[in-house]
Amino acid sequence: MTVTVHPAAALAGSPVLPADKSVAHRAAIFAAIAEGESQIIGFSDAADPHSTLACLRALGVEIEERPDVLGADGTPSLFVQGRGLGGLRPAPGVLDCGNSGTTMRLLMGLLAGRPFDTTLTGDASLSGRPMERVAAPLRQMGGAVDLSDGGAPVGLRGRGLRGRGLRGITYRLPVASAQVKSAVLLAGLSARGTTTVVEPVPTRDHTERMLELDVLDVGGERHVSVEGGAAVRARRWVVPRDVSAAAFFLVAGSTAEAAVIQLSGVGLNPTRSGVLDVLRAMGATIKVSNERERGGEPIADLRVEAPGGLAGVEIGGAIVPNLIDEIPALAVAAAYAEGQTVIRDAAELRVKETDRIAATAAFLRAMGGAVTERPDGLVVDGGRPLHGATVDARGDHRIAMAAAVAALGATGPTTIRGAEAAAVSFPGFWEALEGVAVGSVEHGPPRPA
Ligand code: S3P
Repeated sequence: MTVTVHPAAALAGSPVLPADKSVAHRAAIFAAIAEGESQIIGFSDAADPHSTLACLRALGVEIEERPDVLGADGTPSLFVQGRGLGGLRPAPGVLDCGNSGTTMRLLMGLLAGRPFDTTLTGDASLSGRPMERVAAPLRQMGGAVDLSDGGAPVGLRGRGLRGRGLRGITYRLPVASAQVKSAVLLAGLSARGTTTVVEPVPTRDHTERMLELDVLDVGGERHVSVEGGAAVRARRWVVPRDVSAAAFFLVAGSTAEAAVIQLSGVGLNPTRSGVLDVLRAMGATIKVSNERERGGEPIADLRVEAPGGLAGVEIGGAIVPNLIDEIPALAVAAAYAEGQTVIRDAAELRVKETDRIAATAAFLRAMGGAVTERPDGLVVDGGRPLHGATVDARGDHRIAMAAAVAALGATGPTTIRGAEAAAVSFPGFWEALEGVAVGSVEHGPPRPA
């Protein structure tokens, strides 16, 4: 699908954001292995969490979508009949994780200790992503994991455990990855004894919050532990709105000539909200109000106003995992800011749905931005006017949406190829963008003037 985005000087509105993808995946998995019925309010329509649902259904879990049972904010519910960890059944075929790294990595952890074999596959992008980072600790726990060239298809030979099962380990994360942390902790549920993940640099903590795990601070490092055989409680989960989706509107509002955009019920877990800190440090006007809790996660309403009058910043160190998915959007803010922005310590971006360092540099350069790639980040010399161009999303939802936001402040139309990728995390994105910038979104290439 091709979308053309026309410039828009003034933005206004209250776009409805999708449910938090990270929380949605986890709520579905935890509900599946709980004993009894769980309700998930505000589950995501996005493709990635639906990949997780499809896999769980294939493992014998009954999941019913109930658009008629609404939560307090009008979002529909999902009912999951948890079978207990021991109640998962061998899937009749290969489990297709689609484009979703979280699905594949969390299910590797969940299924490595089950007494049956499973094969996990994904699309071309997911098949090229590194899985050894999960396979290595699972093997240390006694799991039998086969990879193809370090990636998918992933074979889990549960029958090969021959009744021995997994053993608990203490694992220090060599890469700051919440997916690896969560996979090891999920495997820990099937293991003998205690499994502890040590995080030198904190990553998103939804798994430990949602499972109410023990977390210790030992000499500045986080130690997260789970006991083998611990039961997961069936309960009511409430999924906040995705701060990673909010980021596109926060950047759009901060870089426009005039804007007032309101975003309600946004998850503001401190391990996810680095984008707010950075945009504010750049000079953006973002007001946070009505702070409250939803399903154990802090949420709030946000209001962004232009003009932000942004200035370049340095982004690096421990904040990076807290805004890793928002870097393409932040690079767009940097292109509209005065002065230089340096983004470092973000080499992980090279192994996301696409190489996001290369993809971000490519679309910003095509639009006239001054961007230099570094192995672990980007240098953006901001303040140069951007112009419309034809760019490619490279199959990556966040690149499609970041390019769209860049296009709003450019001169002339920008055509985004592969715009359908947005639906991986934000199915209503193009409608939401049109809602705040009326007349900006044209499906297909631009009509001749
Ligand atoms: C996620 C963790 C992050 C993030 C991804 C979702 C999660 O990946 O980029 O979009 O839900 O745990 P890594 O764990 O690979 O850093």
